[in-house]
Amino acid sequence: MRCWKGFIQKSRDGDEFLNALSSLILILVVAGFSFAGGQISSSRVFFGVILPYAAMAAFLAGLTYRVLQWARAPVPFHILTTCGQQKSLAWIKPNRIESPQGKLGVAARMALEILLFRSLFRNSRSELREGPRLLYAEDKWLWLGALAFHWSLLVILLRHLRFFVAPVPRFVLGLEALDGFFQIGAPQLLVTDVVVVVALLYLLQRRFMDPKVRYVSLMSDYFALFLLLGIAVTGILMRYFFKADLEGVKQLAIGLVTFSPTIPASVGPLFFVHLTLVSVLLVYFPFSKLVHMGGIFLSPTRNLANNSRMVRHVNPWNYPVKVHTYQEWEEEFHDKIKAAGLPLERE
Ligand code: HEM
Repeated sequence: MRCWKGFIQKSRDGDEFLNALSSLILILVVAGFSFAGGQISSSRVFFGVILPYAAMAAFLAGLTYRVLQWARAPVPFHILTTCGQQKSLAWIKPNRIESPQGKLGVAARMALEILLFRSLFRNSRSELREGPRLLYAEDKWLWLGALAFHWSLLVILLRHLRFFVAPVPRFVLGLEALDGFFQIGAPQLLVTDVVVVVALLYLLQRRFMDPKVRYVSLMSDYFALFLLLGIAVTGILMRYFFKADLEGVKQLAIGLVTFSPTIPASVGPLFFVHLTLVSVLLVYFPFSKLVHMGGIFLSPTRNLANNSRMVRHVNPWNYPVKVHTYQEWEEEFHDKIKAAGLPLERE
């Protein structure tokens, strides 16, 4: 409780509290509009068809633009990050993953980074204690929270394929069965639903509670978290509390992907809130920090091999430079240097 009071008090001095609050209000306003829109037959076409199509178009165009921008960016130097021994002399043991010398090592390093967030595993925190003494300690919670969030999001998205594909692929049914492994309640409680919400709340409280993280948090940081939380919570409400008509949803979803959209009357307003928040996410994604999902693949500090001792990397747009060697210089001023009594390389 004291912590929260401290947070609110300190935040009021700065912009942090406003950043978080305005993001939350923005999401609630969007949710309110789409909930109301979902009940008015004339605006259901906007929220159920026009907005999702426009959002998908913005997502694809935005992401393509970003990827092309990254791909076009010149990489004149070998600027990879390494924290392991590069391959050098035969008797020095190289670190093949930290400092990969070939494509296989790079692939292993990228896979560990993308699937297990390997660099985040080394995350540390610093604290100023009495003295004053600056202490550094390991901090695995951020790694765990981020990993839990991303993996559960992936499983949730894969499970959603059941709305868009008929017949539902076997692996989607398998994933759903695995996710409902604990067989609690009806409909079965899905582990990823719990994990995604807990992980998002952890990531959110970290921004509130840690003064250093709070100081660097912008509105966009809170917005992304509240948006994802909004999507997850509306989905959970539809599954466990205010049941959505899944037949109707499937008809709508398949209609959207086959470009013959229909909006069944049985689809309730909560679904429109869910879909609208997803549409906002799609539009927001390419232009926000969330686009790191694509960026990681094109990051030169991660995707290059550390082979600069074996391969000469020439800047691709190097043009031949006219050089003036020492020998030429000495030849030019030979007599003057000699007259001044200065040493010459060539007498
Ligand atoms: C970023 C995209 C999305 C995320 C993160 C997301 C998240 C969730 C979550 C966490 C749930 C709770 C139940 C579960 O895990 O299955 C859920 C349920 C649901 N979602 Fe989504 N969703 C997304 C996109 C969509 C889209 C595009 C549709 C449109 C077809 C949709 C329709 C539904 C429906 C109908 C439910 C209720 C499922 C049930 O009753 O079993 N979702 N969503």
